[in-house]
Amino acid sequence: MKFTIAIDGPAAAGKGTISRAVAESLGAAHLDTGLLYRAVGVKGGDPVEAARSLSPSDLSRDDLRSLAAGEAASRVAVIPEVRAALVAFQRDFARRDGGAVLDGRDIGTVICPEAEVKLFVTASPETRARRRWQETDEGSYEDVLAQVRARDARDTDRADAPLRPAEDAVKLDTTDLSIEDAVKQACAIIRNRL
Ligand code: C5P
Repeated sequence: MKFTIAIDGPAAAGKGTISRAVAESLGAAHLDTGLLYRAVGVKGGDPVEAARSLSPSDLSRDDLRSLAAGEAASRVAVIPEVRAALVAFQRDFARRDGGAVLDGRDIGTVICPEAEVKLFVTASPETRARRRWQETDEGSYEDVLAQVRARDARDTDRADAPLRPAEDAVKLDTTDLSIEDAVKQACAIIRNRL
């Protein structure tokens, strides 16, 4: 069986945890598309070249989860040629046998507009900054909040594939939810629509 589940939203809204849990519960494959942009961002050199020549070893570097890599990712993600170079890989992944869950910023709007289910996961900037800060233990809470806001602005205001919910996306606000409840609600929404 082939199906695609698109999970979009801003940084640290809970997309990653939700996507992994949903994929596991459906026995589907999962792609964290942010990793592609992170790998391009930290590779150095010409970002367009980096995106065109991305290899599995670039995706397994262990510095990809750092705040700096997220920042670098959002800078290269505004370049249309970088985004274009990553489209085919994501679309192929989305149509694999057994189903696929992709999380990112533009999966429901640009990469997989035909996805069977689209979820847009949000939370307040303060909640997301607190989660990211507790997770990474890097810098002060205020620094992380400023970075979250800057990244939101860059992702939302860019011309090519800006962060926004698809018209037919179901919205899930995780501000006041525990991670267990967020996962439960996401799984219920998806199972109802598949
Ligand atoms: O999701 P994550 O925080 O790993 O993404 C890092 C950055 O990569 C985002 O802030 C965004 O600029 C970019 N990105 C994107 N489109 C995606 C996934 C990530 O532009 N589908």
